[in-house]
Amino acid sequence: MTFPKTRMRRLRASASIRRLVRETNAAASQLVLPLFVSEAVSTSEPIEAMPGIERLSVPAALEQASAASELGVGGVLLFGVPAEKDPEGSAAWASDGIVQSACAALKRELPELTLITDVCLCEYAEHGHCGVLTADGKVDNDATLELLARIAVSHAQAGADIVAPSDMMDGRVQAIRSKLDAESFSETPIIAYSAKFASSFYGPFREAAGSAPAFGDRRSYQMDPANGREAVREALLDVAEGADMVMVKPALAYGDLISAVKQATGLPTVAYNVSGEYAMVKAAAAAGYIDERAAVLEILTSLRRAGADVVISYHAKDAAKWLAEQN
Ligand code: PBG
Repeated sequence: MTFPKTRMRRLRASASIRRLVRETNAAASQLVLPLFVSEAVSTSEPIEAMPGIERLSVPAALEQASAASELGVGGVLLFGVPAEKDPEGSAAWASDGIVQSACAALKRELPELTLITDVCLCEYAEHGHCGVLTADGKVDNDATLELLARIAVSHAQAGADIVAPSDMMDGRVQAIRSKLDAESFSETPIIAYSAKFASSFYGPFREAAGSAPAFGDRRSYQMDPANGREAVREALLDVAEGADMVMVKPALAYGDLISAVKQATGLPTVAYNVSGEYAMVKAAAAAGYIDERAAVLEILTSLRRAGADVVISYHAKDAAKWLAEQN
């Protein structure tokens, strides 16, 4: 049946009919708010490229997490900015490191809030790469695995509910899973940053975390944005290694892969709406070119429609507020 018997506009005639037939909804409980905890700030410090986001002391991070929790946000994702970096990145697994201290405080004060930690070396190592270096300056995959596993265990010991490796080394999910299991954290889930692309959209994050590589780039370990089949392969390998959830990152230009990875794995799939994507919305909104609230809700709904079960978003608190107003 076609026009004039079929009229698609019938089901768009009123807000209540549109609500009735809406296929996808975004919910605060599926949002995760990233937090930058810094050893070097006394309370908080703005991040120029990310208006509204700050580097936080542990007490300030606790305040942010508490506000997010009250708004119904599903969880927080911790990134650490250490006071000192070294060639190995040893502050990443120190039991009194910044993320470990934040985990302890957050678990103590907000035991119900899901606490996720980013597992990587780039914020802690002088060279800013996500793995250890060989003598000739290459990122050494296999030598990195043991350190990542050590970081993950230190986070779990400090109170992390979920660990999320973002380094893109081969075999890291397996290495982390077996070390967690050996250290009696067999109940701690792993979110694998499975399809993490070498993206220009991480620029503001690198300012926030001071983690820009000192030389070269990340293209020998992060994925080529041209490759979709490879993204599915990465995700399936992570599933085989024991990942509990998989991730596609960035989000906006990668909706096809959120969908493909979800379909292929059947696992809860996370989309990371990254720093540069946040910065673009903020800049356009500040210039008066777009309506921030409408744009953010549209983005979150679209990522859910693509297949994301969980969305990591710097807008999580605002979005939770806006979603509550909508209902
Ligand atoms: C660390 C890491 C990065 C992001 C998350 N974990 C930066 C990078 O790989 O350069 C990016 C997050 C964002 O841009 O919001 N490996």
